[in-house]
Amino acid sequence: MARWLVTGGCGFIGSNFILGLLLKRREDRVVNLDSLTYAGNPENLASIEKDPRYKFVHGDIRDTDTVARILGEGVDYVVNFAAESHVDRSILDSGPFIATNVQGVQVMLDAARKHGKLSKFVQVSTDEVYGSLGPEGRFTETSPLAPNSPYSASKAAADLLVRSYFKTFGLPAVVTRCSNNYGPYQFPEKLIPLFVTNAMQDLPLPLYGDGKNVRDWIHVSDHCSALMLAAEKGVPGEVYNIGGGNERTNIEITGMILRALRKPESLIKPVKDRPAHDRRYAIDDSKIRASLGMKPQVDFEQGISETVRWYAGNRKWWERVKTGEYREYYRKQYGSEPDRL
Ligand code: NAD
Ligand code: DAU
Repeated sequence: MARWLVTGGCGFIGSNFILGLLLKRREDRVVNLDSLTYAGNPENLASIEKDPRYKFVHGDIRDTDTVARILGEGVDYVVNFAAESHVDRSILDSGPFIATNVQGVQVMLDAARKHGKLSKFVQVSTDEVYGSLGPEGRFTETSPLAPNSPYSASKAAADLLVRSYFKTFGLPAVVTRCSNNYGPYQFPEKLIPLFVTNAMQDLPLPLYGDGKNVRDWIHVSDHCSALMLAAEKGVPGEVYNIGGGNERTNIEITGMILRALRKPESLIKPVKDRPAHDRRYAIDDSKIRASLGMKPQVDFEQGISETVRWYAGNRKWWERVKTGEYREYYRKQYGSEPDRL
């Protein structure tokens, strides 16, 4: 029986991780520490709310006392998902990104060091710390860090803090750097859920620039399986890239979504490009495949159709999410109401 502290477990990847973990490790226990920002939604975990193996703590990773108290109750693995995660929001206001993604990680690392009994601390990072690629090549774990957005800069800062806590204090920590995730429960500010839900509402799909930026997509369940491997088998001090091997341009993704929903291409609305928009991400994840046996299971075409079906079948979930603060963000980001053509 292992005890896990998952932070940010009410967000997209964190909630998928907790649901998967409780299915795969029947004896394990999970504490979920989440401050419930706009992106945190306890509904994602409604199915396990009453499971005695699961406990929710409403709190902030920057709160030293809360983090120390949870660790003091007994934790073997920490998986730190908690973050501000959206590039466009980091361009509008970088403050919360430094607060959670840098200071929050420092608090978590310090508490973990003082706790002194962890088997592993997993820092969930991103391929965006490597910056942008030209048409050739892939990121490896030794590619230089060259972040281009306040979001990716804050994640790179955290990666370096983790490295320093391993080197200085011997904290048994690993960093994982994954490519773009897709799947159920993703907040509809990110490309795939935004375009799927807008298309279902016959609203424009705001495609940045020429639509030819490339992302390397992975199903969230494959990312979560890789994170379990990193926690249970990862070697302290190591960095592990995680990718799906599904490089696609944004216009290709948009076409897949429109075809799946039988919607017209006239919904595509080219808009001003994102500043410092990374052109291409591609991941060399041969290290985690060879050393920890990671192997993505979800076929991309099938994963996308299932994801589109999930949003079609869970309209109430995203209609609720697309209210309140979301509307304000949408106006700032796109200069239009989220429900107007
Ligand atoms: P998300 O925005 O959906 O969820 C973030 C969660 O963290 C929310 O539940 C939020 O309430 C919580 N949170 C934010 N600040 C907090 C704080 N100070 N204290 C406690 N909880 C807080 O994010 P996501 O897409 O699930 O990403 C999770 C992690 O994975 C992030 O660290 C992100 O950088 C990383 N990542 C994401 C992707 C992707 O494609 N989404 C890819 C690679 C890595
Ligand atoms: O690569 C991993 C990263 O993937 C994670 O670290 C981030 O947390 C996650 O948000 C994601 O970052 P991206 O910036 O790549 O994801 P996003 O969904 O915002 O954008 C994907 C691509 O789609 C990108 O090239 C920008 C484009 N895009 C996005 C939005 C929101 C559009 O063309 N229009 C849009 O409205």
